[in-house]
Amino acid sequence: MIKTEALSFSYDGCTPALREINLELRDGEFLALLGANGCGKTTLLKHLNGLLKPSSGRVFLNGKELRSYKDEEIFKQVGMVFQDPNDQLFGATVRQDVAFGVVNMGLKPDEVARTTDEVLQLVGGAGLPDKAIHTLSFGQKRRVAIAGVLAMAPKTILLDEPTSSLDPRGVSSIMRLLRKLNKESGTAMIMATHDVELVPLFSDRVVIMSNGRIITEGPPGKVFADIDMIRKAELRLPRLAHLVEVLQKEDGLPFMSTPLTIGQARRELLSLLESRSYQKAEGISSHVRIGEPADDT
Ligand SMILES: Nc1ncnc2c1ncn2[C@@H]1O[C@H](COP(=O)(O)OP(=O)(O)OP(=O)(O)O)[C@@H](O)[C@H]1O
Ligand SMILES: [Mg+2]
Repeated sequence: MIKTEALSFSYDGCTPALREINLELRDGEFLALLGANGCGKTTLLKHLNGLLKPSSGRVFLNGKELRSYKDEEIFKQVGMVFQDPNDQLFGATVRQDVAFGVVNMGLKPDEVARTTDEVLQLVGGAGLPDKAIHTLSFGQKRRVAIAGVLAMAPKTILLDEPTSSLDPRGVSSIMRLLRKLNKESGTAMIMATHDVELVPLFSDRVVIMSNGRIITEGPPGKVFADIDMIRKAELRLPRLAHLVEVLQKEDGLPFMSTPLTIGQARRELLSLLESRSYQKAEGISSHVRIGEPADDT
């Protein structure tokens, strides 16, 4: 469990980048961190594994102040996928880079090799182990950086825009992988992202930052229901929610709730069609069945 108390930080001693942040990442939680460029997401994440030290306020890991831990103890428990993989990768080859953390953890050579192959496979990098890091594409570097963190199996992973620069299939597969780890191994995740479409699909809770502060937090359905606040934070609604907003306002369609995912929208639309078809006795209901949510990923 990670917690901050009145965490404030300034890079230059006068301009605040973080202002009085009170945040708790609970065990096993998948939390999304949203906010415009420069609002402080990366700065906040770097405080949660001790890369930056608060100007004031405190950070706790499992109830103990982070500053009382040795760096290696923190890195074993809290992994971080950097916004720019070039800041993360320093091995000569992919294999060496991914192995670095686990070698330091004292694993035997055969275990290191097995873990390295396994995590590279998981991130879709099975063909990469012998490639030199500098020859990789940006998206491949991103996958390797994620693999290096997964190899160490930390209890908590801080993800700074992990899907940016991945191709669409890469986004789906990495997000599915992260969700699986979260659900099956209970790995807590906090993910800074600009991709509002991903948030309702994967996160239990959303935190929205603006100008160094947390301005709201809660489950995606609650946070995205406050459209004015979303726009004030220079964010936008997921496309589906926007469509439903327009259909409600402009066309008077009586949606019961604002769907955020394809599955939710499908159910809403089908029940709307069904109720209308009864009213108009057009027989639409005989063709339409309210289905299970589609897999949006
Ligand atoms: N190394 C640095 N030195 C000085 N100021 C910095 C440094 N890094 C970030 N800042 C400033 O701190 C503020 C928060 O930056 P941060 O990188 O945390 O934002 P962010 O929310 O991650 O933005 P983005 O969405 O662009 O990644 C910004 O005003 C930024 O200019
Ligand atoms: Mg950032």
